Amino acid sequence: MNKANSLVIVGAQWGDEGKGKVIDYLAANADVVARFQGGDNAGHTVVYGANIFKLHHIPSGILYPECISILGNGMVVNPLVLVDELVELEKRGISTGNLWISSKAHLIMAYHQAYDQANEELLGENKIGTTGRGIGPAYADKALRRGLRAIDLTDINLFRSRLSKILPLQNHLLREAYGHSGYELNQLVEYYRPACERLSPMVTDTSIILAEKMAGAKKILFEGAQGALLDIDHGTYPFVTSSSTVAAAAGSGSGLGPQSLAGVLGVLKAYTTRVGEGPFPSEEKGEKGDQLREQGSEYGTTTGRPRRCGWFDAVIARYASRINGLTAMAITKLDVLSGLETINMAVAYECQGKTIKDFPSDITGLQQCKPVYEVFPGWDEDISHISSISNLPGAAKLYLEAIEEMAGVPIELISVGPDRSQTIVKPDSLLARWCVVG
Ligand code: IMP
Repeated sequence: MNKANSLVIVGAQWGDEGKGKVIDYLAANADVVARFQGGDNAGHTVVYGANIFKLHHIPSGILYPECISILGNGMVVNPLVLVDELVELEKRGISTGNLWISSKAHLIMAYHQAYDQANEELLGENKIGTTGRGIGPAYADKALRRGLRAIDLTDINLFRSRLSKILPLQNHLLREAYGHSGYELNQLVEYYRPACERLSPMVTDTSIILAEKMAGAKKILFEGAQGALLDIDHGTYPFVTSSSTVAAAAGSGSGLGPQSLAGVLGVLKAYTTRVGEGPFPSEEKGEKGDQLREQGSEYGTTTGRPRRCGWFDAVIARYASRINGLTAMAITKLDVLSGLETINMAVAYECQGKTIKDFPSDITGLQQCKPVYEVFPGWDEDISHISSISNLPGAAKLYLEAIEEMAGVPIELISVGPDRSQTIVKPDSLLARWCVVG
């Protein structure tokens, strides 16, 4: 197995780092792009000329007709949303013939969304701030061994039979604990029938495809969703998503061993954002935060919610590097910082009279942390047309060098705008080699 040709791309903050754009850029040279966790809570915006694509399940590689796209076994898939995505892409002339769904991926069902929304309501002011897409309940049912899987979509009788075993318990819970009216078996089967028919030919053992491509030294991108601080184990629990978002999950979530994962690229914004509830030490609640939100168009792709904005946090970057084993970083939206007189960067936290440089392992500790800022000079120039690192303003170069030094990981890609053309790759780097055709 040749591992030199694989690259895992993960978010290294709280998601929304601009992974879609980076993956789309690198997918031009990929033979396969595989997602390995999460579901339609993810929202990747890919801008290609005048075209804007908003993808939720489907890997960004779909925009390249030769590239194989895979929804791995670690994902939870909403069949109805996936069909809508396919229809939308096809309407715009994008072929979906190279998309495959792991037979082992779990399904997000209507009752999962009902639970998700009801849970949030019941939690009231302690809510997680989920996307309401049913992600947590679908992963919970997987762990409770009462989930439906993509293989069940391939035969409507199988689907009915599996559902008939699960539905009485789901209805009992929905009615008794949540005051929901529940679902009727036949109606639910008919509701899902068109999706079963549409998706059935795409369901297969995707691990075999991946292993064959690995053996043939093909280039494989593993596309992470969300980010390190939303990881179910390592994130700001309980304000996290319900899957493992770190690089190691690319193996188990796609059916390959750890030796299949070579480079790990962490994507970080040049500042920080977060949606949903939970602590955020470098959050900027005043005018500067509003400025970042407006200049960076920081509104959720999936929910449209305004994102909370703040400064780049090097404590988080170091932590994300450790738990992912980052070999390189991509810094996105550097152009959004143009025009700021000064730029803050959190380099440590002040916590109960102590200065700490490691990200706290529990939320109570994190809530007590105040950021220690280093202040960098800003730059006025519009950098959105710059195509090499050497042409960036001196202050921008200084800022990037400080990030590299504090995270201990090289920056190999810089994004200065949403379009594919607004991407700078460091010469002679791992990513520069990835971008060489062949
Ligand atoms: P869930 O994944 O819908 O259960 O939401 C749990 C937490 O993860 C919430 O704070 C969401 O806002 C956040 N979240 C889930 N998916 C994304 C994403 O793609 N980008 C950013 N935040 C996300």
